Amino acid sequence: MSTPTPEEAAPYGSGPTKSAAQAPTAIKRVRTHHLRELKERGERFSMLTAYEQHAAQTFDEAGIEVLLVGDSASNNVYGNETSLPVTVDELIPLTRAVSRSVQRALVVGDLPFGSYQASPEQAYLTAVRFMKEGGAHAIKLEGGVEMAPQIERLTRGGIPVMAHIGFTPQSEHTLGGYRVQGRGDTASRVLADALAVQEAGAFAVVMEMVPGDVAAQVTKELAIPTIGIGAGPECDGQVLVWQDAFGLRTGRMARFVKQYADLHGVLLEAARAFDADVKGGTFPGPDHTF
Ligand code: KIV
Repeated sequence: MSTPTPEEAAPYGSGPTKSAAQAPTAIKRVRTHHLRELKERGERFSMLTAYEQHAAQTFDEAGIEVLLVGDSASNNVYGNETSLPVTVDELIPLTRAVSRSVQRALVVGDLPFGSYQASPEQAYLTAVRFMKEGGAHAIKLEGGVEMAPQIERLTRGGIPVMAHIGFTPQSEHTLGGYRVQGRGDTASRVLADALAVQEAGAFAVVMEMVPGDVAAQVTKELAIPTIGIGAGPECDGQVLVWQDAFGLRTGRMARFVKQYADLHGVLLEAARAFDADVKGGTFPGPDHTF
């Protein structure tokens, strides 16, 4: 039997006296099994999107467990209106930047629309690129029952999969727009999707825009952790797109977004101050001149 590494021997640090709030930060390097252990211990974890170096470093330093290089880069980095146009070739460099920039967080690369739905083999070849070229530690894909063959193929091939059910933005046009999924009779469909992705081997599942009581039931029934976005407070983890949560993006926000900062306001003020200094001849001053 091999000797456990210090990380394996004491993934949460030593001693039973740590409070629930402290324990997750003691994980030295977040692995997929840690998320499940946190669920088993009734402890929550957090996930944010990240698409580049400095945000990734900052979120990692803050103790965010999972950084998702989301296909939401399409409408937060590349200037598109939706997540549909972004390509594998556009997401891989962002994934590489994030994976190079973190010391602790689990980095998940998001497979974009059209890069995995055709077949399990297509999904595997795309996911391998995210792992080899992007340095991702896991991948995320959208879909429930219908994606079970893809999830099985990936996990069999050594690629950890985070599933994404409920409202799946890549299927916006099939679902008839941004709509809550799982209301009334369709709640059983969300549960069936959740059970199918778990059975296929997913290590966690994102639930987007699902009624809180349905998400709570799914969270209770699954052994793998659930991560909510617009799915109420009972999920094991929560995720938000960082430009929404920290106020870099302006305009209409989904109801599930809580805004923690006004980065747009801060940047606007800073840019205006710089502009005024340049035009007024006060920058550069003697301190900035060789
Ligand atoms: O791409 C993304 O940002 C996502 C999250 C909203 C879960 O899929």
